[in-house]
Amino acid sequence: MPSSRILGTGVCVPPRVVTNFDIMKMMETSNEFIVERTGVQRRRHAEAGQAASDLGAVACRAAVADAGLTMDMIDLVIMNTITPDHADPGCAFFLQAKLGLAGSPVLDIRQQCAGLIYGLSLADHFIRAATYRYVLVACAEVLSKRIDGSYDGRNIAILLGDGAGAAVVGPASDRGPRIVSTTLHADGKHAKSLYTAAPGSGLERGEHITKEDIDAGRVHFRMDGKAIFQNGVEKMSQAIFECLELNGLALEEIDCLVPHQANLRMLEEIVARVGIPRSKVYVNVEEYGNIGSASLPIALHEARQAGLVRPGGRTLLVAFGSGFVWGSALVCT
Ligand SMILES: CC(C)(COP(=O)(O)OP(=O)(O)OC[C@H]1O[C@@H](n2cnc3c(N)ncnc32)[C@H](O)[C@@H]1OP(=O)(O)O)[C@@H](O)C(=O)NCCC(=O)NCCS
Repeated sequence: MPSSRILGTGVCVPPRVVTNFDIMKMMETSNEFIVERTGVQRRRHAEAGQAASDLGAVACRAAVADAGLTMDMIDLVIMNTITPDHADPGCAFFLQAKLGLAGSPVLDIRQQCAGLIYGLSLADHFIRAATYRYVLVACAEVLSKRIDGSYDGRNIAILLGDGAGAAVVGPASDRGPRIVSTTLHADGKHAKSLYTAAPGSGLERGEHITKEDIDAGRVHFRMDGKAIFQNGVEKMSQAIFECLELNGLALEEIDCLVPHQANLRMLEEIVARVGIPRSKVYVNVEEYGNIGSASLPIALHEARQAGLVRPGGRTLLVAFGSGFVWGSALVCT
């Protein structure tokens, strides 16, 4: 059975830089708290008129060009976001229209910060089965539009940034550059550790949304920060060890670890727990904050550009997100 590989990556990071001092104008917080607890110094915010599909389309075009393909060669678009253009239909439709891909299938997935891992896994399976040849995986977030600076929302609000990343996956031989393995996990009993209650059908009443939902803050993220921190460290560390065991590899045989950029303190704990040299781990959370599902493809793209993802090397991608959802992808480059 043929394998698949990442043929190209692309990103879109809005130019508007928002510092912690700018965030302090939006809510009761301090630069010291943000830096000490999260490591974030700056993040980017999209312009008011920009949607997730706008950032996603820029990243997708760049990824297709990087792959040396043209957009009409894409057989399937998989999109992940928690900041869709509209409540429905899925954001992939709006992205597809902007890419001019009428008629080809699209697939919205909702795997939060692990969107790239799930997207790569699906793309890999479709390509191995010879169902599709070229699959575009896009992750885009405009999280700045979901900032709630109230007392209940500020623990997550300080982390958030905007951006998009995309990867083109296509056929490969069983030797050489390829996606070697993907592992996927989820545990829905923790779904309310980081969630947005409204609008929804699970509110034990007849209405999907009410004015009171807005007034009570149910339309905003609510996060149990400690649960997310502990589980994020544990699950991402587990996913690294699981990938090594699955592939019969020692940690030293990994050339580059690209983790979801959740929070610098979390990443430092993972590095300490796993015992991987810090120089092999790509980190950009200080610059961009946490961009949800877009963090991982942006970090992967930058790691490629920085030369950390070298030809003939092994890159391990790992992510954790709300749900909980977590997993890994091992890529030979
Ligand atoms: C968010 C995080 C920094 C908060 O730290 P914490 O110690 O767990 O924070 P808590 O929510 O327990 O609150 C501790 C104190 O900090 C305060 N606090 C929370 N957010 C704050 C903010 N933005 N500014 C200032 N103080 C804040 C709380 O009000 C609380 O004060 P109190 O004890 O006087 O009530 C931390 O939990 C964390 O990093 N979690 C992981 C988040 C993450 O990575 N999410 C993305 C996963 S994909």
